[in-house]
Amino acid sequence: MNILLVWATNSGTTQTVALMVKDALSAAGHSVTVKEARETTPEDFASPQAIIIGSPSWDFDGNEGFPHEDFLPLMEKVKTQTVAKPFAIFGLGDSSYRIYNGAVDHLEKFVGEVKGTLLVPSLRIDKFYSDEAGNTAKVNAWLEELKKKRAGMARGASERQELIQRFTDKINAERSGTKWKPATWGQVNGLVRHLKEQDLYWLFSQCEKSGSFSKKFFGVLKS
Ligand SMILES: Cc1cc2nc3c(=O)[nH]c(=O)nc-3n(C[C@H](O)[C@H](O)[C@H](O)COP(=O)(O)O)c2cc1C
Repeated sequence: MNILLVWATNSGTTQTVALMVKDALSAAGHSVTVKEARETTPEDFASPQAIIIGSPSWDFDGNEGFPHEDFLPLMEKVKTQTVAKPFAIFGLGDSSYRIYNGAVDHLEKFVGEVKGTLLVPSLRIDKFYSDEAGNTAKVNAWLEELKKKRAGMARGASERQELIQRFTDKINAERSGTKWKPATWGQVNGLVRHLKEQDLYWLFSQCEKSGSFSKKFFGVLKS
């Protein structure tokens, strides 16, 4: 799998965890591109098959619990786009702050805005260095979950199935209250059988951008 890992840090902890994530996923045979948020562009979100984001929580404009400030312009730029891909989020925080690991909440909202899906529940680390061994074990347990999910997807089934379900849901949301019967997963699957996964992501984003998801979907498939 081609994975993009985007991170930012103020005092180095998120970098340490980002490198653990990179090493574990690379050792599991994935191709991991690691980028700091400040050098990441919206175009970088186009080709990877999965995206991992890591951020500390910090103050921004006097408010606690924000992602690292390098994420803010990037999220602003990307959030109007569709990045209907699997995501995973890890956050470094400190529970003595009022909004503990609030960055993770902001990043989860962002993933929702771009129509991404979370592969595994987000990882929230509390005061990494106050229990380095315990927190390293926590990161490793999270990575095991992530690798299991990715391995399942590498077999080709679940990511595609999920994507087809997303098409089906979109079409049926538009059909609700009309004379049209709901489309079934099997019908949609039959229609897109010839398309590769990357093309399905492309088609989904095109349908989302158009005024009518279904019209675009059936129009593109007819042409
Ligand atoms: C000025 C400042 C503000 C912080 N704000 C928060 C916060 O709002 N919520 C939180 O959970 N942790 C907060 N933290 C704790 C950091 O997120 C935590 O130390 C983290 O490990 C830092 O990661 P980094 O080393 O990658 O920058 C703050 C720390 C500092 C120094």
